[in-house]
Amino acid sequence: MTKMYSRISGTGRCLPERILTNADLAQMVDTSDEWIRTRTGIERRHIAAEDQTTTDLAEGAARQAMEVAGVAPGDIDFLVVGTTTPDVVFPNVGCLVQERLGIGGFAAFSLEAACSGFIYALSVADQFVSSGKARRALVIGAETLSRIIDWNDRSTCVIFGDGAGAVVLEPSDEPGIISTHLRADGQYKDLLYHPYGTSKKQQADDDEQPFLQMKGNEVFKVAVRRLESIVDETMATNNLERGSIDWLIPHQANLRIIQLTAKRLGMSMEKVIMTLRDHGNTSAASVPMALDVAVRDGRVNRGDLLLLEAFGGGFTWGSALIRY
Ligand code: UT7
Repeated sequence: MTKMYSRISGTGRCLPERILTNADLAQMVDTSDEWIRTRTGIERRHIAAEDQTTTDLAEGAARQAMEVAGVAPGDIDFLVVGTTTPDVVFPNVGCLVQERLGIGGFAAFSLEAACSGFIYALSVADQFVSSGKARRALVIGAETLSRIIDWNDRSTCVIFGDGAGAVVLEPSDEPGIISTHLRADGQYKDLLYHPYGTSKKQQADDDEQPFLQMKGNEVFKVAVRRLESIVDETMATNNLERGSIDWLIPHQANLRIIQLTAKRLGMSMEKVIMTLRDHGNTSAASVPMALDVAVRDGRVNRGDLLLLEAFGGGFTWGSALIRY
């Protein structure tokens, strides 16, 4: 029997209308446009409206991706959303997107892998589509991180943004998704986390506030090392030489982290899709949104070799090698 693969047949993204610039943030906390630009590469980010949820953004991205793929909602038979900012504890965002699209009767779920959420979701969906267990999968990364940010904390509020990106995966005789690589290490749980949940605590009853907590500098160092090792592993598994990737589509966390990963791969920054400046760090949404930007502006074309990677809280990290 010939091996089957999954391939991306459509991409989409959805960003909230409201834009928050570095200058806006300088009015809110003790920071400056210069500090944010030079330390992170970010100039602006989109922030969800008060009544806009992760599901709203996920639905918008999913509809675009299905339109490009030429598939109707009724054609979808697998749905997975990477998110750490679900609308509610349950139903999961996958079910909420199903309801919006008027479809159901197949597996729909969200998975929580922080900024690596989309890479994790893509890898899971790939297992189903390439094994013939699903025919058309919607894979989404969607976040409203603005809801868990302390807007008085300059060390975190300047970094994050909201948005969603989606792809449709379909079976194919040729790759497609060539390999995915997922990793996690829970020993780093205290470097990047959100202290509130359901079984631990739900109300601010001690000195820990219900906001994202990050030891940025320490995260930075581990992120660089782990991303280097996952891209090395991806290249070695597939017998690829340095410089053979057409486009690097990295998680958009910090310009300096991305530059170091590109250097490791022997790639110039012209071959790296950057959306950090306009989107900030949108966690699980950043990789699929960057892919969609590059497909729509004509940089990424059919046949190109893409390397997607991400690193986030947990820590979790991962990569996907894709012949687009
Ligand atoms: O997405 C998932 C994973 N997350 C990441 O990969 C994030 C990784 N980390 C980073 O991107 C960087 O560590 C940050 C951008 C978060 C911070 O940059 P940094 O160069 O590591 O800064 P730092 O935390 O070492 O702080 C340097 C200085 C401190 O002042 P002192 O102690 O040197 O006087 C901070 O108080 O910068 C100060 N600072 C700021 N100053 C102006 C921190 N935030 C700000 C700010 N504006 N917004």
